[in-house]
Amino acid sequence: MKEKIELRYQRVFDAKRFFEILNNPNFKYFKVCPKDIEAEKDFLRQNSEKRKNNQEFNYAILLDGKLVGGCGIHINQFRTFIGEIGYFVDEEYWDKGIGTKAIKLLEDIGFQKLGLKRIEILMHPKNISSEKVALKCGYKKEGTMEKACRNGDEYADAHLYAKVTT
Ligand SMILES: CC(C)(COP(=O)(O)OP(=O)(O)OC[C@H]1O[C@@H](n2cnc3c(N)ncnc32)[C@H](O)[C@@H]1OP(=O)(O)O)[C@@H](O)C(=O)NCCC(=O)NCCS
Repeated sequence: MKEKIELRYQRVFDAKRFFEILNNPNFKYFKVCPKDIEAEKDFLRQNSEKRKNNQEFNYAILLDGKLVGGCGIHINQFRTFIGEIGYFVDEEYWDKGIGTKAIKLLEDIGFQKLGLKRIEILMHPKNISSEKVALKCGYKKEGTMEKACRNGDEYADAHLYAKVTT
């Protein structure tokens, strides 16, 4: 893919586009759809505070300047040298390598800018494309965490992938 992939901080004016991307029944293993655009705006408004508190660093994924997805690093509040990353891409743009490129950029931010020593990715065991992204980015499978994901009253296992730096 020759197009340019970039990350930038998420902004409140991204709310409509994020809602449009996330409001997708085919996001079977990533249930974070906001109730409506206002709820998404509320989430986005909290981003700068979360960065200041070293809690979460969330980014928009841009393809040639167009917003096509989101990703972020959640800092483990007990072990602040560990971050967990998450990501999503508009279904229209799946399987073009965008998720993989975005995670490589996000990882650089995590290791180089935030000084993390370990980055984790957790995914539902049936989330094959997410697992593929982790593998393509050189993450190592460390095992399966039982009941590590919650969706309402339901709990699912999660594969744990991780990468460490020196
Ligand atoms: C996971 C997600 C971000 C991947 O983004 P993407 O831009 O499509 O990722 P990439 O194109 O870099 O890689 C996807 C890989 O999965 C592969 N893939 C997709 N579905 C597959 C399947 N059913 N079986 C085997 N491989 C599959 C693709 O072929 C591709 O691999 P390749 O490059 O070797 O061909 C995207 O599918 C998504 O947004 N899903 C919904 C949200 C989500 O589940 N996020 C992850 C939460 S842990």
